[in-house]
Amino acid sequence: MTNTMVIKKILPKLLMVLFMILCSTSGQDECVPTSVQHIDILSNTTLVWDLDAFETCHVTNFNVDIWGNGEEEFHLNVTDRFLDVSFLGICELWNFAITPFSYEVSGASSTLSTYVHLPPDADLSLSYVTYSFPSGYISIDWDLTNRSLGDCSLKYRLTLHDEDRDTMEDIYVSNTSINLYDMLPCTQYETLLRAVNMAYPMIGGPLRTMRIRLGARVPNAPTLKALDIQATSFNITVELEGEKNKCPLRTIRVNGGVYFDVSVSLYELESAEFLNVEVKDLLPNRMYFFNVSIKNNGGWSAVTPLAVQTLDFSPNK
Ligand SMILES: *[C@@H]1O[C@H](CO)[C@@H](O)[C@H](O)[C@H]1NC(C)=O
Ligand SMILES: *[C@@H]1O[C@H](CO)[C@@H](O)[C@H](O)[C@H]1NC(C)=O
Ligand SMILES: *[C@@H]1O[C@H](CO)[C@@H](O)[C@H](O)[C@H]1NC(C)=O
Ligand SMILES: *[C@@H]1O[C@H](CO)[C@@H](O)[C@H](O)[C@H]1NC(C)=O
Ligand SMILES: *[C@@H]1O[C@H](CO)[C@@H](O)[C@H](O)[C@H]1NC(C)=O
Ligand SMILES: *[C@@H]1O[C@H](CO)[C@@H](O)[C@H](O)[C@H]1NC(C)=O
Repeated sequence: MTNTMVIKKILPKLLMVLFMILCSTSGQDECVPTSVQHIDILSNTTLVWDLDAFETCHVTNFNVDIWGNGEEEFHLNVTDRFLDVSFLGICELWNFAITPFSYEVSGASSTLSTYVHLPPDADLSLSYVTYSFPSGYISIDWDLTNRSLGDCSLKYRLTLHDEDRDTMEDIYVSNTSINLYDMLPCTQYETLLRAVNMAYPMIGGPLRTMRIRLGARVPNAPTLKALDIQATSFNITVELEGEKNKCPLRTIRVNGGVYFDVSVSLYELESAEFLNVEVKDLLPNRMYFFNVSIKNNGGWSAVTPLAVQTLDFSPNK
């Protein structure tokens, strides 16, 4: 009897507490979402974005506001984390603001301003590809075959394949021309040129390839590396350009005018960084002036003038 009386008395209080607990849990549902991240336009003209990795709210939808420089504006409400934006003007600058919602509660907006990339089916072929060889470098010019959509997201990639050393180098340019200065003489290169739509994932246009080879270049004058002097002879070591000039070597000449003139054939050599030549039958304790030069299939280098003083005969010998 007394027990039911007690229950009847505290029931309103119990209900009150229960109501307060319900209120506070529905308060927890009013969760403010964190702003979205990594907004980007993919190469298939799809706008994409990510939720924060530590998002705890239940994100229900996004408001996507789009505006450009003109009158046109778009306001969309989507539930996915992507939006096909192929309806926007290609190669025009657009602003995007994305606002996450958890039910009726909005988070902060994130924005991105970007050109809408060329679509995946844009014609990326090149035409009028021309190679010219002014002295000292190679010049390549080209054009995009169809410019009707613009070229806002395009770059041009030249892959330079040094076939002798089997090395590759990628060069990206925005202009439709490129000058190559550091090309090595007597080296076979393969050039692979294509337009690349830089949107992610990248789309490459058709390749235009060409084999090129710069002609021979006369070697630089040899430089003195070592000199081993005896009484009646000396042995000179000179340094050459090595890999920088792979044009085939022909001859090295150590020319002391009327006193000596030594030429050594280098036809057997593949290439060389150092060469040594011995000059014999000299007189002891004498000064000799001489010139060293080198010849490859392009011709003779400039001469390097040098001098040696032969040793006196040692009384100990
Ligand atoms: C666009 O590309 C992304 C990534 O490659 C892919 O996940 C998505 O399904 C594509 N969207 C359309 C509409 O093709
Ligand atoms: C967005 O759409 C959802 C339904 O998908 C709706 O509940 C919500 O009120 C809309 N939000 C805005 C801001 O229009
Ligand atoms: C150039 O590209 C546009 C858009 O893709 C296309 O409509 C047009 O026919 C193309 N023009 C030529 C000459 O191929
Ligand atoms: C690209 O071309 C323009 C005009 O021909 C020129 O002014 C500019 O210097 C070039 N840029 C590069 C990086 O070569
Ligand atoms: C000349 O010098 C080089 C390197 O110092 C050595 O290898 C070579 O044997 C020398 N030649 C003679 C003939 O002494
Ligand atoms: C070395 O070359 C210089 C310049 O060409 C020349 O004047 C000189 O006579 C040459 N010396 C010898 C020993 O041949």
